[in-house]
Amino acid sequence: VTETQYWKITNPQDLKHIQQASELIKKGEVVAFPTETVYGLGADACNPEAVSKIFEAKGRPSDNPLIAHVATREQLEKYVQEIPEVADLLLDHFTPGPITLILESNQTLAKNVTAGLSTVGIRIPNHPIALALLEACNLPLAAPSANRSGKPSPTTANHVYEDLNGRIAGLLDGGPTSVGVESTVIDCTAEIPVILRPGGITKEEIEKVIGPVMMDPGLADELHKPKSPGMKYTHYAPEVPLFLVNGDVHVMQEHIKKYEQKGHKLAVIVSKEYAAQLDATDMKVVGSRFDLEEVARHLYDALRYYKEQEYDLILCEAFPNEGVGYAIMNRLTKAATKQI
Ligand code: TXA
Ligand code: MG
Repeated sequence: VTETQYWKITNPQDLKHIQQASELIKKGEVVAFPTETVYGLGADACNPEAVSKIFEAKGRPSDNPLIAHVATREQLEKYVQEIPEVADLLLDHFTPGPITLILESNQTLAKNVTAGLSTVGIRIPNHPIALALLEACNLPLAAPSANRSGKPSPTTANHVYEDLNGRIAGLLDGGPTSVGVESTVIDCTAEIPVILRPGGITKEEIEKVIGPVMMDPGLADELHKPKSPGMKYTHYAPEVPLFLVNGDVHVMQEHIKKYEQKGHKLAVIVSKEYAAQLDATDMKVVGSRFDLEEVARHLYDALRYYKEQEYDLILCEAFPNEGVGYAIMNRLTKAATKQI
């Protein structure tokens, strides 16, 4: 057990606490910090002992590589062999921002960051605290999402505290994150770039800039092995079993009635449009069906909200599979025990 230092940052220009956090990182400790997507758990990506503390704190399998975070493009260039043209365009258009590029590594980073792969996932986050921390320590930071392995990613400091208090050296609280789902992971080493994990930047947005890209077949069916090692593990699992409900609001109402009659302690995660028409005791609204960014922002908090002491089943609305809805449905499908 470690004592976890906690700092609330109201003004990212006030560098005092960020400096303290960076001192811990330079000493080889791990510190959680906000990014625009989800909270990350950061350590010096050049120090293998520091990096191994991340795996330990999260309970993460060591064959699952971490994303390296850097503040600038110049810094990014230090850790890759080359920047292919598509990567160059993606960097120009989307960074800093919620996108992670898979590039050939020049093997400068600690081996356990990339889990021994020849490639590295690298990103420039768009969050003032993340950027200030990266600048203060002047190091690349290996940082997976700051949750215990298997749980939904944290979108508030409170989620991080719940999972990792006493297991990490520090926690920078910058309030709730703005995107709410993780970065889009795109492999830029293939002839045609491949999206390995849908996320904050959509396929449509990417294709406007670099032309056609592929979705990793492993995302759509169980037969193909996903190319991104992390996508094969159980993920985003709420404490309470979740059924993903396909169908309109009337279908949802029927399921609610059915499971309530069976005596289930039922919770429901829905859009405000569904909520307005439903008759149910315990509903959590995640936003509008017509504003999927809003749904993405509130999704993980809803998945973490219901505790097993009080509930035994969550019914969750299925959202349109378009734009950021693709990332939402990817996560919900993984979080769900089954689809009904
Ligand atoms: O938004 C995000 O990306 C957040 C914030 C903290 O930056 N980070 C995050 O990291 O989600 P993590 O470790 O939870 O997810 C990283 C994903 C995993 O699925 C991992 O397998 C994949 O990226 N990945 C990392 N390096 C890779 C590589 N070289 N090749 C293929 N997949 C890679
Ligand atoms: Mg994660």
